[in-house]
Amino acid sequence: MTSEVVTETCLENYKYSFKSDILSGKVALITGGGSGICFTIAEIFMRHGCHTVIVGRKLERLQKSSETLTKATGVKCIPAQADIRKPVEVIAAVDKCLQEFGRLDVLINGAAGNFLCSLEDMSFNAFKTIQEIDILGTYNVSKVAFDKYMKDHGGVIIHITALLHLKGTLLQAHVGVAKSGIETLAKHQAVEWGPKGVRVMCVAPGPVEATEGFNRLTMGLTVEQINQMVPIGKVGTRQEMGEICLFLASDMAGQITGSTVIADGGQWMVSGDERMRMQRYRQMKSRM
Ligand code: COA
Repeated sequence: MTSEVVTETCLENYKYSFKSDILSGKVALITGGGSGICFTIAEIFMRHGCHTVIVGRKLERLQKSSETLTKATGVKCIPAQADIRKPVEVIAAVDKCLQEFGRLDVLINGAAGNFLCSLEDMSFNAFKTIQEIDILGTYNVSKVAFDKYMKDHGGVIIHITALLHLKGTLLQAHVGVAKSGIETLAKHQAVEWGPKGVRVMCVAPGPVEATEGFNRLTMGLTVEQINQMVPIGKVGTRQEMGEICLFLASDMAGQITGSTVIADGGQWMVSGDERMRMQRYRQMKSRM
């Protein structure tokens, strides 16, 4: 049985906030770039002059997405099939990038695994699988990018993480552990690789609409319902995540390294019923 290849689409009527040439001539390798948030990160980078290599396990999806991206932006995108858990495949993907473009300026570590599962229901292999994809995969791709290019030329590495570990988020222990590990890795990489001109950061989105993660992890809640739980009143968009990465990858962010940019509209700080409690408080006050 062949799995369905979901077709990604590019942004309509993209409005530039930054100059359109801020990544001109640069090259980014984006794991998980075949779909979701990382597809849009690739698109936004390309709209700012950056060539891309999108990496993932599903070649057909990568091919389709790279064609869509190139057509929409007029900038080159090539697919590279690799399971980031396997160093040999990661080395081949980075080699493909260097053969094609001769450089690798930005690495986005976006490939990750997730599913909802309680600790009680989780198998040994399920927990291990997420650590292998998220932590080891992120480590593998960063190491190969650094060894093969960035240690001699500098660069920017951005890991896409999450905020699950800031609280004991229900049904997400496996991912929370992995993402906190990646944040720790970023700090060590930032310190050790800073002298080589490499900046390393994390971007931690909350729920982002129009993504597989949103559909699967929000357990049937609608965007409108989740909006009510976010202090700024709305969940994130793929474009917002892409533009945060664009800023971090650019020279404008030259002093930022080792940090995590939290991009969840403030949701991690609240329990979700703040709006209702505020309403009750106002009612109480009006009765006084
Ligand atoms: N609940 C509980 N356990 C799960 C699970 C779920 N929803 N999905 C997978 N697992 C378990 C499997 O049962 C297996 O454990 P077992 O051998 O003890 O049965 C283990 O995790 C590995 O799963 P498998 O699918 O065989 O591994 P894989 O390497 O092919 O793929 C994932 C791993 C996480 C990528 C895959 O499960 C997946 O496709 N997940 C959904 C897509 C995704 O994560 N997208 C990320 C964006 S949110």
